[in-house]
Amino acid sequence: MLEAKTFESIRQLDGISERTMTEHYKLYEGYVKKFNEISEKLLTADLDAANPSYSEVRSLKTEYSFALNGVKNHEIYFGHLGGDGAVPSGRLSEQLTKDFGSFEKWQLEMKATAMAARGWAWLVWDKDLQKLVNVAGDTQSTYLVWNCLPLVALDVYEHAYFIDHGIMRRDYIDAFFKNLNWSIIEKAFNTAIK
Ligand SMILES: [Fe+2]
Repeated sequence: MLEAKTFESIRQLDGISERTMTEHYKLYEGYVKKFNEISEKLLTADLDAANPSYSEVRSLKTEYSFALNGVKNHEIYFGHLGGDGAVPSGRLSEQLTKDFGSFEKWQLEMKATAMAARGWAWLVWDKDLQKLVNVAGDTQSTYLVWNCLPLVALDVYEHAYFIDHGIMRRDYIDAFFKNLNWSIIEKAFNTAIK
């Protein structure tokens, strides 16, 4: 059984309201609840009836990925918000420069990825390519690439910004960057490259 974590970032942020953060956290709790429900139902599902058109096993298996990634995505999201947006230094900064040309160029590509996505934009460390890459997602569980560790998770579902910014997703994305805690992201990167 998973339990919802608590996050210091569920409060008024710079450009993201307490109402948005509080409502958004409730959605995260919903993913935790649904993941537990799916895990429980898998224990008693009719395995003989499994079928790719429709079956209980199919529903549970597809939504397992959706719900669990919903949990993981939001834990990264809430976990690295609440900072002052100060630009990273050290090993991560060097790798961003190596793979994108500069921090600013990475940020421009990440913003474009977030504008092009229907759900998420992630900065990931690809362990096979040994490279930082921005990846777009249309749901909680697409389009992930194997052996990649997400370091930055930018939620661009409308629930993340509509209360504060209406359809102005770009303004929300700017606010997201202002509130990032890069020390947490650097720590995740240093663990990822070990
Ligand atoms: Fe979300």
